[in-house]
Amino acid sequence: QHCFSKSEDGFLYCEGLKIQDALELVEKRPFYLYSKPQITRNFEAYREALEGLRSIIGYAIKANNNLKIIEHLRHLGCGAVLVSGNELRLALRAGFDPTRCIFNGNGKLLEDLVLAAQKGVFVNVDSEFDLDNIVSAARIAGKKVNVLLRINPDVDPQVHPYVATGNKNSKFGIRNEKLQWFLDAVKAHPNELKLVGAHCHLGSTITKVDIFRDAAVLMMTYIDQIRAQGFEIEYLNIGGGLGIDYHHTGAVLPTPRDLINTVRELVLSRDLNLIIEPGRSLIANTCCLVNRVTGVKTNGTKNFIVIDGSMAELIRPSLYDAYQFLHADDYNLNVQEFEFPLRSAVIARPSIQWSDLVLEEADYSPLFLGSFNEHVGLLVQHIELISPPPPNAEISTFDVVGPVCESADFLGKDRELSTPAKGAGLVVHDAGAYCMSMASTYNLKMRPPEYWVRNLWISALSLHFTSAF
Ligand code: LLP
Repeated sequence: QHCFSKSEDGFLYCEGLKIQDALELVEKRPFYLYSKPQITRNFEAYREALEGLRSIIGYAIKANNNLKIIEHLRHLGCGAVLVSGNELRLALRAGFDPTRCIFNGNGKLLEDLVLAAQKGVFVNVDSEFDLDNIVSAARIAGKKVNVLLRINPDVDPQVHPYVATGNKNSKFGIRNEKLQWFLDAVKAHPNELKLVGAHCHLGSTITKVDIFRDAAVLMMTYIDQIRAQGFEIEYLNIGGGLGIDYHHTGAVLPTPRDLINTVRELVLSRDLNLIIEPGRSLIANTCCLVNRVTGVKTNGTKNFIVIDGSMAELIRPSLYDAYQFLHADDYNLNVQEFEFPLRSAVIARPSIQWSDLVLEEADYSPLFLGSFNEHVGLLVQHIELISPPPPNAEISTFDVVGPVCESADFLGKDRELSTPAKGAGLVVHDAGAYCMSMASTYNLKMRPPEYWVRNLWISALSLHFTSAF
């Protein structure tokens, strides 16, 4: 079951919520719309796949750092994977058990490592200088740090170069030929470091599980080598990276079960705990960015649908030439399957309570500076219209573009769509991962509000923040 579906009369729903109803109720600006039940279902797929193994599902907070979403994932049983001090602080604020958190990254700062050491978070060693900093942090905190070596196994993840990380010229991790140096360095610091595991992360949007298996086989040889020197390695961390079907072609992509099953025997054969670090595959398909059509125009041979959303709210297409599905006709689900009556779905415009405000986040990043604005919202990713097109609307090939002042500002290119009316809703699907978390205020656009659908209710996930005037 998937959270977005089209009814026979041509309206797009998120669970039981008719998105057109939401569009009419919320402030006139793009918004992110999530399905809370879909987040739960995605988590359950991992939990079930991991049955029979000792494991930690470390959610990669960089994919989506909305406080309520991460609290929900924590409540379901996730640990957290962190790549900055602020992500670490946010995870602690959200109540994650620090001993189920992993602090990753090639440029971790000493002060952030000190916090990680104090709290008992696992730390991945990324380089010689990183090891020095971890030793210093352990001394300052007066705590021994549980470390994993991030080994760069040089397995080609077959993905866009910007999201490939495990190749030999990558800025991440250590090369296996340096392994002995790191083992000696750990041995030299018995009061500061305890080596508990090995980590690798190959890249993101991986669509073949054999790639994970190749990496796991190599990691076993490193783990054997490390154990042979007397280290009690307990954890294999195989990182994140499972892709999703952004194109909505119905292509059969590996599931969490396929992923876990390719490494299960290896993990059991060495009596290891398995750590995985999914981001995208937990959260991407739970959300869309909801936009309004500002107008339609033609220049030369190109037709454009201009919407109010842009590369500021959702930068992936501009940055990676990534395909976000925009099209209207691919959903053919039976709407009656929903457990509540679609037409009577209630949309509550929530009154904003101070307790709903994500106040502490305001301290974390300049992106959160500014005064609170009263409205809240929803957003979605893949592109389609949310309501039936006007009668006799022509179907054409469009670039779907935003209002931002540069030609890189597109959400989708060459999409077959019915010519929409002004004000029509259009969604970009699969927008749960690396969309809101990468949103900017370029052209002084405001970071979009987020809503989620919880059964009948739509609620505000965050207030958005306006610029300071
Ligand atoms: N672990 C490590 C060490 C990572 O670097 C990442 C992602 C993950 C886990 C989670 O990977 P996932 O399961 O989400 O693929 N902004 C890009 C994606 C960058 C991924 C960075 N690292 C995008 O929009 O596609």
